[in-house]
Amino acid sequence: MKRIAIFASGSGSNAEKIAQYFADKATVDITLIVSNNPKAGVIERGRRLHIPVLLFDRTTFYDTNRITQILLSQPIDLIVLAGFMWLMPSDLVRAFPHKIINIHPALLPKFGGKGMYGHFVHEAVVAAGETESGITIHYVNEHYDEGQIIYQAHCPVSPTDTPEDVAHNVQILEHLHYPRVVNEVLMNDEL
Ligand code: GAR
Repeated sequence: MKRIAIFASGSGSNAEKIAQYFADKATVDITLIVSNNPKAGVIERGRRLHIPVLLFDRTTFYDTNRITQILLSQPIDLIVLAGFMWLMPSDLVRAFPHKIINIHPALLPKFGGKGMYGHFVHEAVVAAGETESGITIHYVNEHYDEGQIIYQAHCPVSPTDTPEDVAHNVQILEHLHYPRVVNEVLMNDEL
């Protein structure tokens, strides 16, 4: 049995897609959802999916190693960031080398880094006149969006597309590919 912890700050649509993908697979368990946002939609989704949700405030997340201790005590095979907007604390990254992955809603290394998340990414893509965007799934290190890339998928951006259009097309790619890539990483340990 492989065990996953999902971290999410927002609506949690990717978290739910991953949970659905593994729901009928006895080999993988979504053990835990971690959030930093008491208003996040992912909390309600977790309740509905019968997955325990742990909520962290900033001080506990960064100034104690509670999150690392909890995850080390489980045991967890993979930490999956699905719209989690805080940087991983260094002790957590060190405790889970090559065991934390993230999805970013653009084609890294473009449109990554601090402040580049969610809707801001799609606004920047449109403002730059890009002709394509997409998703990047990558390993996580102590810097925003800089870990080794595992998988990318592309979608076209037309001159008339709004950031909402791009967000919509990117989210289709996320829902299609993230669960499958999570599974491949779990099964191969490394791609
Ligand atoms: C997703 O588009 C994900 O790529 C993005 O947040 C959204 C979460 O959506 N993540 C980042 O921007 C991280 N830098 P969801 O809550 O519906 O899964």
